[in-house]
Parts: sequence; structure tokens; C-alpha cells
Amino acid sequence: MNIQIPITGKISWIGVNDRRKPLFENMWPLPHGVAYNAYIIDDEKTALIDTVDASAAGDFLERIAEHLQGRPLQYLVINHMEPDHSGMIDALAKRYPALQIVGNKRTFKILESYFGVTQNLLEIADGDRLDLGRHQLQFILTPWVHWPETMMTYDAAEQLLFSGDAFGAFGAFSGGIFDDETLVERREDETLRYYSNIVGQYSGMVQKALAKLKGVPIRTVCPTHGLVWRSNPSKIIDLYDRWSRYESQPGVVVAFASMYGNAEQMADYLARRIAEQGVRDIRVLDVSTTHLSFLLSEIWKYRGVLLGSCTCNNLLHPLMEQLCTKLTHIVPKNKIAGAFGTFSWNGGAVKHLRHTFEALQWPLAAEPVEIQGRPTPAKLRSCDVLAIAMAEKIRN
Ligand code: FEO
Repeated sequence: MNIQIPITGKISWIGVNDRRKPLFENMWPLPHGVAYNAYIIDDEKTALIDTVDASAAGDFLERIAEHLQGRPLQYLVINHMEPDHSGMIDALAKRYPALQIVGNKRTFKILESYFGVTQNLLEIADGDRLDLGRHQLQFILTPWVHWPETMMTYDAAEQLLFSGDAFGAFGAFSGGIFDDETLVERREDETLRYYSNIVGQYSGMVQKALAKLKGVPIRTVCPTHGLVWRSNPSKIIDLYDRWSRYESQPGVVVAFASMYGNAEQMADYLARRIAEQGVRDIRVLDVSTTHLSFLLSEIWKYRGVLLGSCTCNNLLHPLMEQLCTKLTHIVPKNKIAGAFGTFSWNGGAVKHLRHTFEALQWPLAAEPVEIQGRPTPAKLRSCDVLAIAMAEKIRN
């Protein structure tokens, strides 16, 4: 979308879609692409809020020049220094030699280390203002959402919040960039996947940022990824509030790792028995065919988490081990856990799952279940206690 889209007042969207990058940050699949949102303010003074990823920038500089109709760009506000937003700083500084780069103390440390830029810096502190004419920008420092320097920029004239990665989402735009131009529900899973994988580890800091925004009238939210929320901004603010408070849905994720199909049979049996107990929302996921980012997103969503693994050389299946390690990094809370697995010749998988849940401080619905060899119908019945206990806790 190599166009500028008016938002309100003298503010326009000037971002880009990226449908070519297979992995965001070389880690997270992008089945629906991603958008990098930048915003331009063409007031008595001119300002750009954030830039875009250099690899997807295309004619970004020309679009800015065209928008400004020969006027120079005077300010570049950097809400976030990660390269998907800072990628064009260097090029802009060269194109507009008098450009003032606006950021906080931490922004400029990163700016120097990434780009060697140390000139034309306008350092702001929390609450400082920048007068553009009709638009008066105010800076709200929101550190660690999800980098140390992250901040937001508020325009009181339009009650509009440039929020950086906060309130962002995966997914390129298909025409509509505003919440009222799209089917918002269709984008919710990719919004949660973005939250749980990129920001969720810093949920405590998200809560601090939300507390700072309390009482600030917000008519429009302009994040650096995902929809511009002009009709129902409270929708995305509420979602981020719920997710960062670890509020979860009454359902169960059953994630398994299986080499010969035995742990998978246990997963299916457990899911069936839980369904028989009246739990309607159950997701059975194979960690070998489901990317880690989707597993984390589903685990963030649901209250019940059953993890199962075959024993592989006395240890967990490596992909289950990867999931467990990641969980101990991001530490989702308010979960009810359960472990199951196969014993092989010496056991090991279930023991490691139990250690993971202890590290996460997730209470167990019931004792873990371990099956040796082929899961016969008689052996599978040893899963009943776990399934019934999990279902009961989820229903209540
Ligand atoms: Fe979208 Fe933290 O970069």
C-alpha cells in the first residue's frame, strides 16, 4: 500500500505492508504478513512518528517527500528502536540534514550503538511536550513494553495515542487499516500471538503503562503494527489489559510430543475424556507440527494446560523441551497444569514436565500420568483421574 491515508487532523498513516518476510525477527512465522505503521504530521511543523523496516520500505522516502510537498521533515519521534521501526532513521537523517530526532535517554543510547547517530538529538523526559502548531505532542515513557526505551506519544488535539508496539498485532492490511474497515474478530488470534510472543513476557510493565494511561482520553490508538483503532479503541486496550493480567478462557490446551504415536494416543484420550466432562473448548496440538509461537499463543489463551511427551533418551522430546524452556522465560500465570507421557525404558519425560510446572508455579490438576510401552485401553484408563480433575477445575 504505497499511499498515505488520512487519519484525523493533520495526521496520516504512511506505513508499509510486508508479505515477503517468512519469519518475523527470524523466529515467528508470518502466515498473514505484517504491517509496519509510521505516521506523518503535516502541521506548522512537520513530524514523522517512527519509521519502517528497511527491507520492506520500498519508496517510503519518496512518499514522505511527496506528502510534504517540498517542505522539510523537521522532527522524527522514535517511540521504539527495534529495527522494524528504526530501519529508516539513517536514511532520513541523510535526506533531511536538519532533522531533529526526538527520543529519551535510553533511545539515544541504542540509536548510537545501532546507527552511530549522535547529532541533532532532542532528548525528552516523561511528560515533556513538543509544539507542532495545532498538534501538541506529549511523551509518555513506558519502559520495557518490550524494550527498555519504549515510549508512547500522545496528541491532545485529536486525543490520539501513538503507542509503539503496544496494542500491535501480526497481519498485513488487506485494504482496510482502521478497525471499522475490517472484521476485527478475524484478526484477534494474530493479535494474541503477537502479544504472547513479543510483549507478554513484560506483562507487568504493560500493566504499568496502562496505569499511566488511566484518565487519558483516547479516541484513536495508532500502534506500530496492526489496525488503527479509531472507532472502538477500548477494544484493543481491554484485550491488552486482560492478556497482561493473565486472564484466560475456560478451555484446555493439550500439547503433545510423540515419536511413535503413543503420547499422541494419550493426548487424544485425555481430550476425549475432558470433552465428555462438559468442557467445550479444547485444542489438541502436536508440537512437532505446530510452531512454538502458536503453541504459546494458545497456552496464553486457555486456563488448562496439559503437556505430554514421549521419553527420548531419558529426556523430553526436544521440541517439548523447547516449549518448556520458552514457558519458563515468559512465565504465563493463572494456569491449571497436567503432565502425561510415556516411560520408554527408564522414564524421564514426565519427571521433566513436573519440574517445569514447579518452576512455573502452576498447580497440578492431578498427579502426572505415565504409561510404559503401548497405551492399551486398560493403561489409558490411568488418564481418567487427570482428565476428570482438569475438567472439573475448568468448569468451576
Ligand atoms: Fe515492532 Fe519491538 O518491534
